[in-house]
Amino acid sequence: MSEHVYIFDTTMRDGEQSPGATMTAQEKIEVARQLSRMGVDIMEAGFPAASPGDFDAVRSIADTVKGATVCGLARTNEKDIDVAYGAIKTAESARIHTFIATSPVHMEFKLRKTPDQVVEQAVAAVKRASGYVSDVEFSAEDATRSNWDFLCRIFAAAIDAGATTINIPDTVGYTVPEEYARMITYIRENTPGIENVVISVHCHDDLGMATANTLTAIGAGARQAEVTINGIGERAGNTSLEEVVMALRTRRDFYDGVDTRIDSKQLVNSSRLVTHVTGMMVQPNKAIVGVNAFAHEAGIHQDGMLKNRETYEIMTPESVGWEQTRLVLGKHSGRAGFKARIKELGYTDLGDEKLEELYHRFIDLTDRKKVVTNADLTAIVEEDLQYDPELFTLSGWRAHSGSDGRAEAWVKLNVGAEEREASAGGNGQIDALFGAIDRLVGRECELDSFHVDAVTPGEDAQGAVTVRVKFGDQVYNGRGVATDIVEAGVRAYLMAVNRAAAAAEVSV
Ligand code: KIV
Ligand code: ZN
Repeated sequence: MSEHVYIFDTTMRDGEQSPGATMTAQEKIEVARQLSRMGVDIMEAGFPAASPGDFDAVRSIADTVKGATVCGLARTNEKDIDVAYGAIKTAESARIHTFIATSPVHMEFKLRKTPDQVVEQAVAAVKRASGYVSDVEFSAEDATRSNWDFLCRIFAAAIDAGATTINIPDTVGYTVPEEYARMITYIRENTPGIENVVISVHCHDDLGMATANTLTAIGAGARQAEVTINGIGERAGNTSLEEVVMALRTRRDFYDGVDTRIDSKQLVNSSRLVTHVTGMMVQPNKAIVGVNAFAHEAGIHQDGMLKNRETYEIMTPESVGWEQTRLVLGKHSGRAGFKARIKELGYTDLGDEKLEELYHRFIDLTDRKKVVTNADLTAIVEEDLQYDPELFTLSGWRAHSGSDGRAEAWVKLNVGAEEREASAGGNGQIDALFGAIDRLVGRECELDSFHVDAVTPGEDAQGAVTVRVKFGDQVYNGRGVATDIVEAGVRAYLMAVNRAAAAAEVSV
């Protein structure tokens, strides 16, 4: 059996299904580039039939990404499959992923179809997809609550119709490791043709077992893992990419050399990027990519670490990309060094105009901060990239508050060629500033969450504020970075407003 496990990343599809994690097309392209840089084998770029926006984003990714297969999701109907093909057809390597539910509860109440009808529909869909591309994945949604013999039957039929990957999703995060391994073994032993296709697993984390389930499935012969960066996804999320990759790498002895082709040094960068674009924060104690993942607090641990790192460290922070390389450039070092560093950080496609704009922000930062690190630079670039499309731009603000908690604020925004300004009072400076912005955009927005982070340690650190703002039923996130935390808050709020404006929730 092959020692290679394919990494199928679904951050841009299942990950994006987390409430408030919507990404713009431009952000998706940024994420797609990073995924390909990191070495994922397949990226599920979206669900093209879901909306014209999804279709366009998948198509742009198919046009842009090199070195990885681009996949579009489709239900088992002709329209979805035709639309998915329309979105991915220009990719260097393209896959259609089609799915239908196979559990009794889904077939009876959601689909209102008999098992025979479900098999028939799956076969027709796989045949149609195979007419377009040679790489077709078929998923039996809610497989872990389905009858195992029925799964073998539908998988055999799908393989016969042209499927090249068979996916066995734990859609509702219901299974446990031992059961899932037994199920994979049963399917391998009882499905004609299964030896000619790749067995894939796709787990959700409702019981906190997505990574454990994925790893036992790999032990039982699965050779594709469907994962997301930071484990984001529907409800409690999906299996996290970084955990599976590092578990296989760290325990190659146990998994008989089975490995992925992921460049693990890109894990932290990828995690940061996804946090920035989705506004979904990573908990400090998250494995691999949480800020405390390699921090040793207890004296006894620190003592052991000083004597030999292996006493308490099973992998090095550097191996997953936790380096804090200092930028040896100061404000006098010039543009060339700055631009070279930005390219080294992976931002290879920024035009001259954008680089110049970023250079000025960098210079501005060196006035306020003694040491500028890669993390600082990444934060500036990411914030800037997320600002498109920008209807409202910040041109000035002021706020003051007193010991009684009352605050007054003034904000000036540019809306195209027009300048608008407003003042407001509030319960603290942030409240007053957000109130003034609400006046300027003509809409009262509901602040859902406000989170402050330091980009780097130290007194002069840049602060990063992440907000989630509700406009009716929709949640938009925004992130702002500045050495002044209040300004970071204003920038974050404005980004959320701009996103709502782009989605027509706010009019000019
Ligand atoms: O969880 C699930 O079943 C899915 C399918 C579309 C694969 O996301
Ligand atoms: Zn899923």
